[in-house]
Amino acid sequence: MRHLTTLFDVTASELSEILNIAHQLKRLWSKGKRPPLLAGRVLALLFEKPSLRTRVSFEAGIIQLGGSAMFLGQEVGWQKREKTSDFIQVLGQYTDFIVCRTFSHSSIDELAKFNTVSIINGLSDLAHPCQAIADLMTMQELCDNVAGKQLTFVGDGNNVSRSLALMCAMSGIKFRLLGPESHFIEKEWLDRIAARYPKADIVQTADKKLGMQGADFVYTDVWVSMGQEEETQQRLKLFQPYQVNSALMSLARPNAKVLHCLPAHREEEVTAEVIDSPNSAIIPQAGNRMHAQKGLLVWLAKELGWIDTADI
Ligand code: CP
Ligand code: NVA
Repeated sequence: MRHLTTLFDVTASELSEILNIAHQLKRLWSKGKRPPLLAGRVLALLFEKPSLRTRVSFEAGIIQLGGSAMFLGQEVGWQKREKTSDFIQVLGQYTDFIVCRTFSHSSIDELAKFNTVSIINGLSDLAHPCQAIADLMTMQELCDNVAGKQLTFVGDGNNVSRSLALMCAMSGIKFRLLGPESHFIEKEWLDRIAARYPKADIVQTADKKLGMQGADFVYTDVWVSMGQEEETQQRLKLFQPYQVNSALMSLARPNAKVLHCLPAHREEEVTAEVIDSPNSAIIPQAGNRMHAQKGLLVWLAKELGWIDTADI
């Protein structure tokens, strides 16, 4: 069984394979073609938190591939109505993939442990791997060769930035996190990256000049993630000096591209002037969630022996 609980579940060459399929499917999609590679396959979305992009892009993506999606909200009683072992083994008999969005990452590991159905992390407190795969796709579209480029993430050492740091290490992209030291990505996650990808070029700094210099891509995310609402006042104050505004952007490379996973809070982590500027790629970036996830699903289906990707 193959899962995507974090990007540690795939190798760098597997990530490239997923991206190649995604680009190929996007090319076909742009010509109006939607090959039904996953006809009859069922994808369930088990979500404990709100979502626009992740939910709808997975639903649209599997339907475009000839399969179907079912959204499972609170009423199915995950973690409330019965033991997880019963829950997942039953669900695994009805579905082919489960995309799970949850508070605690351990809940995703718990589902994957049973190996009854392929589990895809649709965001946990630890990681957001589908976001990072789509972001790599966007970066590949924006420059000829991403290797050696620099992505500076401004803000919180959170689910999104952890996944980006790992994705960059897997792809030869320099990663900088600029933000308050108290909210850097934890050493444990960085040690795991360094153990797997010894050439990873990752620096975390509170120094704006150091963090921004050489940035080809400037990425930010909300200061208060879902589940952290109680810390709102403290976080808004702490991250305020790290707002992505035109003064901060002037420290990056000229015409550096602006990325954001969305939803964005204009005038908090990023000004409207910057996020709505010609260098902002946020809309195609969100669009790529669907194409990248189609690549992921087709790649998983190939790995699970259901299809031969040579058929695309
Ligand atoms: N970026 C992202 O995951 O968006 P949603 O929360 O809308 O799914
Ligand atoms: N870090 C944000 C990402 C939302 C897509 C959160 O977890 O709420």
